[in-house]
Amino acid sequence: MSQLFDVAVIGAGPGGYVAAIRCAQLGLNTVCIDEWKNPQGKPSLGGTCLNVGCIPSKALLESSENYERAAHKFSAHGIRIEGLSVDIPVMMSRKDKIVAGFTGGVAMLLKKNKVASMHGHGTLLKSGKDASGNHSLWQIEVKNGDQTEAIEAKHVIIATGSTPRTLPFAPVDNERILDNTGALAMKEAPGRLGVIGGGVIGLEMGSLWRRLGSEVTILEALPGFLMAADEQVAKEARKIFTRESGLVIKTGIKISGIKTGEKSITVEYADAEDIQGISQKLEVDKLIVAVGRVPNTAELGAENIGLKLDKRGYIEVDSNCRTNLPNIYAVGDVVRGPMLAHKASEEGVAVAETIAGQAGHVNLDTVPWVIYTSPEIAWVGKTEQELKAGGVQYKAGQFPFMANGRARALGETGGFVKVLTDANTDRILGIHMIGPYVSEMIAEAVVAMEFAASSEDIARIVHAHPSLSEVLHEAALSVDKRAIHI
Ligand code: FAD
Ligand code: NAI
Repeated sequence: MSQLFDVAVIGAGPGGYVAAIRCAQLGLNTVCIDEWKNPQGKPSLGGTCLNVGCIPSKALLESSENYERAAHKFSAHGIRIEGLSVDIPVMMSRKDKIVAGFTGGVAMLLKKNKVASMHGHGTLLKSGKDASGNHSLWQIEVKNGDQTEAIEAKHVIIATGSTPRTLPFAPVDNERILDNTGALAMKEAPGRLGVIGGGVIGLEMGSLWRRLGSEVTILEALPGFLMAADEQVAKEARKIFTRESGLVIKTGIKISGIKTGEKSITVEYADAEDIQGISQKLEVDKLIVAVGRVPNTAELGAENIGLKLDKRGYIEVDSNCRTNLPNIYAVGDVVRGPMLAHKASEEGVAVAETIAGQAGHVNLDTVPWVIYTSPEIAWVGKTEQELKAGGVQYKAGQFPFMANGRARALGETGGFVKVLTDANTDRILGIHMIGPYVSEMIAEAVVAMEFAASSEDIARIVHAHPSLSEVLHEAALSVDKRAIHI
């Protein structure tokens, strides 16, 4: 007899493990199936986010930022350091400890909530039918090495996440050509580092290794830079990243091939100025490939049960994360919407509550984005170019960090906050930030939008002085042309 559960969750990333815990909190007998192994070959929960994504990247970004401050910024505060050096293996082991703490923590949380945990690859087999031919149970096979176990569940939540998109001409070996896993585990900073893809990973990894001493060149296919962000923010970011942070960013490039020599890798590409397509060459010691991610649906058994995927391999879901099959839901990177950990987790919670008969809901219009570069970039809602394209009548208010007391004290004065509102109602339509710690400041913007606030609402809220949050306050005042400190 196979074990029977109310809910089987496939995948223990931030979508899956959070869904499983919420199901258990709601009294559902739940199992969470995950196949991830750490470099030592041991099961490691938490998915991409905890193992090779959000957590290790932020740990290393923080370490490298501290080094950058000590090397280039402390002297302005009158702090002199002689013989400063960086120990990358120590940095890596700090990162590994943080990761191990969290992945072990997820195992403890599942146990505490009485979620059964199974290690192995989950495949959807078929649905059981009751006597009247109606669907009753879903069967899942869990394979771990040569051991196979079958379970049954009334409901299934698929949270199998995503993996890096590959380029046929740049095969990743995680020694010299790296994806995010290799980029987060280098033992030393390569002298010359190339990055294919100027998206979120490219910028975060490029910044990290540049601060640790690499010469970094980012090759981006699109003609513009950070095209998902507000244009003005992207322009400011490019200016700061190239002039102050020392990244070389080339946009509108087309890679024609890669030659891997004994000592170096040569990337051949044409750029926008190459009228006749004459190849440019970039010689590097290591190359990061960060050209987006693809959903993990290939070996899930979708075809066994008739689960509908779209053309790009994502599981098709409605606004409540329901698939085309009864009692099967999908959340996180494996479905439409931004590939972000917090979006995956909130979908997991919403689905658990829906299964328990409550009203689960996620508002995809107010999912915040954060890019952990220096300065950081964060936004929520519509960009100015989206409002223009949609013919929306809007007003904009903006305030620079340069005029803020806390930013001056920090010595981090680059960037600004921009508030976009409906010209008729003053309702906030989008808030865009580039500057210090905007990853933390964006929360106020999300709350404001969720509560359908106007710029007037933010303008009338008391903000602590001196704090970075005053920049948002002044940007809101500036929508009505009444900013005080500029
Ligand atoms: P995942 O985290 O990918 O987890 C899926 C899990 O399912 C994995 O453990 C996988 O092994 C398992 N699995 C897959 N198929 C099966 C199967 N058939 N059977 C059993 N198990 C299976 N997002 C942010 O919000 N903030 C950040 O700062 C951030 N930084 C990132 C940095 C990097 C370098 C990368 C790569 C990503 C980053 N992300 C960030 C994105 C974030 O990691 C993902 O959006 C998030 O992990 C998606 O969660 P998920 O639960 O959908 O999938
Ligand atoms: P991305 O979609 O952000 O960027 C990929 C970039 O590669 C795009 O700009 C694309 O135009 C470019 N590209 C594609 N093919 C190319 C080619 N052949 N040559 C040159 N450029 C090419 O994807 P990325 O950076 O891989 O990250 C994946 C996802 O992970 C992100 O979209 C995000 O959802 C998530 N993530 C989130 C982070 C955060 O929240 N701070 C940090 C890192 C990742």
